[in-house]
Amino acid sequence: MLIAALVLAGTVAGAQTQAPAGQAAPAAPPGNAETGKKLFVANGCYQCHGYEGQGGSAGARLAPRPLPWAALSRYVRRPANQMPPYTEKVLPDADLAHIYAYLQSRPAAAAPASIPLLQP
Ligand code: HEC
Repeated sequence: MLIAALVLAGTVAGAQTQAPAGQAAPAAPPGNAETGKKLFVANGCYQCHGYEGQGGSAGARLAPRPLPWAALSRYVRRPANQMPPYTEKVLPDADLAHIYAYLQSRPAAAAPASIPLLQP
């Protein structure tokens, strides 16, 4: 379990590598969150990452604050570990941009202090 966590942490750190200094990271192409929601299901992302991109035993958490576009699109094209690769042919950038918009649109989790059931 610890090893799995370390491997995952390494993957996340690797995927978050930023653009070289002095070079602005490319912005995501425009996307529509509603369309993205459908594509997230149609392409099977939900099977491992959950319908909300919340993550689970099979896939990492993706929402509500997804990786920067450059890192996310690079990862989806060439994943490092267990995730299957999605080529541009299977999932065009325009579709991935809709998925990105959907992930960004997910609301942040409620603060634990605001959940009555969690109060002593
Ligand atoms: C078969 C399961 C599976 C499917 C389907 C899948 N993923 Fe993943 N994904 C993973 C796993 C597992 C990881 C964690 C790293 C790894 O093992 O590749 C991951 C990692 C990622 C990451 C990197 C997250 C990070 O913080 O480093 C992104 C982004 C991502 N997935 C997006 C997607 C998108 C978008 C789709 C649909 C087009 C998708 N995944 C479909 C299993 C899956």
